[in-house]
Amino acid sequence: MSETAFPLANNLQNSLHDPMLLGEWFAVAWSREVAPQATLARHVMGRDIVLWREIDGTLHGWLDLCIHRGAKLSLGAVQTHEGQACLVCPYHGWSYGASGQCVAIPAHPEMTPPVKARAQTFIVRERYGVIWVCLGSPAASLPEFSIAEETDFRVLLAGPYRFRALGPRLIENLLDVAHLGIVHAGLLGDPKHSHIEDYEVEKGTRGPEAKDIRIWQPDPDGTGKGAHVSYHYEVQGPLTASFVKYHGDQRFGILAQVAPVDDEHCEMRLVMTMNYGHEIPEAELIAFQDKVTEQDRAIVESQRPELLPLDLQAELHLRSDRMAIAYRKWLREIGMRYGVA
Ligand code: FES
Ligand code: FE
Repeated sequence: MSETAFPLANNLQNSLHDPMLLGEWFAVAWSREVAPQATLARHVMGRDIVLWREIDGTLHGWLDLCIHRGAKLSLGAVQTHEGQACLVCPYHGWSYGASGQCVAIPAHPEMTPPVKARAQTFIVRERYGVIWVCLGSPAASLPEFSIAEETDFRVLLAGPYRFRALGPRLIENLLDVAHLGIVHAGLLGDPKHSHIEDYEVEKGTRGPEAKDIRIWQPDPDGTGKGAHVSYHYEVQGPLTASFVKYHGDQRFGILAQVAPVDDEHCEMRLVMTMNYGHEIPEAELIAFQDKVTEQDRAIVESQRPELLPLDLQAELHLRSDRMAIAYRKWLREIGMRYGVA
C-alpha cells in the first residue's frame, strides 16, 4: 500500500506548532553519533537542526540554517578561528562561534560581522548516551532514569524507530498492558494469561505513575519458564515515559522518548537497562526489541483517528486501561495540542 493510500487528516497540519512542546526535551541522536569536529543533521518538530561537536567534546545544537543565504550548516565544517571553535558555512564560509554569533566573513575579512549574523541556538544536553534538545525554554528537568546509573546495570540504546503516527498514540501504546499478551504473544505475554489484575494509578513527579502491575510472561528471564512479573510505569513528559519490570532480583527498564519529526512522523528512541543477562550479546537484545517494536508498529500505524481522543466519551475504556485514561486526562490538564483531539 502506498503512503498516499492513508493520508493523515488535514487538521494535523498545525499540530507541530503546539507551543508547549517547545519546553520539552527530545531525544534526537545518540552521543556516539557526533564525533569531535563532526556535524549531524536531524529533522525534529518540522525543523532542520544541526548537531556539532568541538574538539574538546562540547556539543552544540542549532537551527540548520545559515542566515546569509539559507545553506545548511550541517554541510559545513568544524574549524578553529582565532582560537575559538566555529561551525563554518559551506556556501560562503561564514564562521559561527559557539554562541551562534558569526565571527568571520571571508568576503569581508576586515569587517566585524553584523550582530544579526548569528545562528539560532538550542539547549542541548547529553545523558545516558542520548543527545537531548529543547527547542525553547525547558519546562522540566531532563528525564530521569536512575536505574541506568546503578552499578551492575547495562545500558543499551535501541532505535530510532520511525513511525508514521503521532506521538501520543505511541506513548499510550507503551503504557498499555493489556496488549502484551496479544500483540507480543510468546515474547512479552501469553494469550492464555491475558487477564489484567486491577492496579492503581497515582500522580507521579510529573505525569501519572502506576506501580506493581502484574503480568504473566512466558519467559521473563531466559530460562524458558513462565512467571508473573511486575511493571512500574511513569509518564515523564507528554511524549516521554518509562517503565521498570521487576522479576525477583532482576530488573529491566526502558526510557522511551518520542520526538515528532514532521506532521506525519515520529521517531522513538529507547534507553534500555538491565541488571542480568550480561552475557547476552547486545545485538541479540536490540534485535528482540526491534521485533517487539515492529509488532507495535503494525497496530499503532493502523489506529484511527491518528489524533489521540482526550474526550473520554470517545473510544471505550475498561479497568485495564487505567494508565491510558490517566495519560489522556493528564494531557488534557496540561493543555497538550499536538497529536490529540
Ligand atoms: Fe552561509 Fe552564505 S549561505 S555563508
Ligand atoms: Fe507493545
